[in-house]
Amino acid sequence: MSEVDLLITGGMIVTACDSYPGDLAIKDGKIMMIGQHLNLPAKKTMSADGKYVLPGGVDVHTHLEMPFGGTVSSDDFASGTIAAAFGGTTTIVDFAIQGKGQTLAEAADIWHRKAEGKAVIDYGLHLAVTDATEDVLTEMASMIAQGYTSYKLFMTYDGLRVNDDVFLKALLQAKDHGGLISVHAENYYIIDYLVKEFLAEGKNEPKYHALSRPPLAEGEATGRAIKLAKLVEAPLYIVHLSCQEALDEVIRAREAGFPIMAETCPQYLLLSEDNYNEPDFQGAKYVMSPPLRPKENQAVLWNGLAQGEILTVATDHCPFNFVGQKDMGRDFFGRIPNGAPGIEMRLALLYSFGVGQGRMSLQQFVATTSTNPAKIFGLYPEKGTIAVGSDADVVIFDPNLERNINKGILHENVDYTPYEGFLVKGFPVTTVAKGKIITDHGQFLGQLGNGSFVKRKSPMLL
Ligand code: URP
Ligand code: ZN
Ligand code: ZN
Repeated sequence: MSEVDLLITGGMIVTACDSYPGDLAIKDGKIMMIGQHLNLPAKKTMSADGKYVLPGGVDVHTHLEMPFGGTVSSDDFASGTIAAAFGGTTTIVDFAIQGKGQTLAEAADIWHRKAEGKAVIDYGLHLAVTDATEDVLTEMASMIAQGYTSYKLFMTYDGLRVNDDVFLKALLQAKDHGGLISVHAENYYIIDYLVKEFLAEGKNEPKYHALSRPPLAEGEATGRAIKLAKLVEAPLYIVHLSCQEALDEVIRAREAGFPIMAETCPQYLLLSEDNYNEPDFQGAKYVMSPPLRPKENQAVLWNGLAQGEILTVATDHCPFNFVGQKDMGRDFFGRIPNGAPGIEMRLALLYSFGVGQGRMSLQQFVATTSTNPAKIFGLYPEKGTIAVGSDADVVIFDPNLERNINKGILHENVDYTPYEGFLVKGFPVTTVAKGKIITDHGQFLGQLGNGSFVKRKSPMLL
């Protein structure tokens, strides 16, 4: 037999359904063979002794170089995907945001130019529809055929939000052509009313961002979005679900048999509204939408993951520097750009605080960070699993490696991490993307531009 490119030996292979000791043989960017004690000639052999061999992470919610709130998110496709790779993520799906008057194809082109020559891991693009003319709704069909199979609609944010009429039409278009609508669900009018009240009372600090976006606003919008999806029997994916009120709506719909799928993010599992009280305006670091919730809420979300009611954990990575970006809102929380970094620590955090603390199984960890997002967003089985014929996107993960998270160890292009001081046990040590080792024990070995655009298939409904 001719040489394989890479042989990973002696690890514990972990998928969403099983764990077993085995070796992986990789050739031409694909997993060629799985077995025990594979005795094959190889250009390179790596030992994964005492480590897990996981399918590369799939982060289906990132915002790289995204114009937002009068500024631009600080990671581009180079720094953002390098950080992702160090964290064990080998595929992202970023959001191409349609500008006013643009076609969806134009929006996609703008995002391709951002990624070209920069991405070090594969990427797909969701299209965020913000100007849904009849032509744009019609265009969805041809874009789905070209591999843009998911669409995000915002129910809030001036300039981005759509009304229920558009929402319904987009759901129908997606359903008819094999696409999936995802939704940022918060009630615009509740937020608008509360923001104006706080402003009038001179309440300008970051914590009022959270108080102006109560769980009621997310629960109402989530319930409304689900009802519209039910009406036309379309599947729906709820992004960054943060609270019980929204989760209750998802559970009710799923129990009734509707394909309503929900995502949460590490920040809602691990941080809380208490962070908004950090001194010297540092609460601004946590200004994101939906906002962080009371601490008790974390258990609700962990439980939702354990019960399979929440199917994915993505990051909503949308970094803005504290100095020069977040501080645009020193005088008024409404001017703080919404979003926080997180692309790099997703696996380490979820493993440590999920598997490590008995809140989820190893299989649920792989399912929620890799397999389920790959299935839902049309990337499976090339991505999201370890199987013969799948892309050789693989992470060697040391379950015993302890790290103290701080800004200094991260590769994200932003001047803080919301997880400063968190101690994790379990850390990715080597990341392989399409058969190439791109990070190894803290060293970057990849190449800018080696990540390719992935045309995605229709969703698998979980
Ligand atoms: O605050 C957030 N989440 N910023 C990113 C944009 C979005 O809503 O996903
Ligand atoms: Zn959103
Ligand atoms: Zn987002």
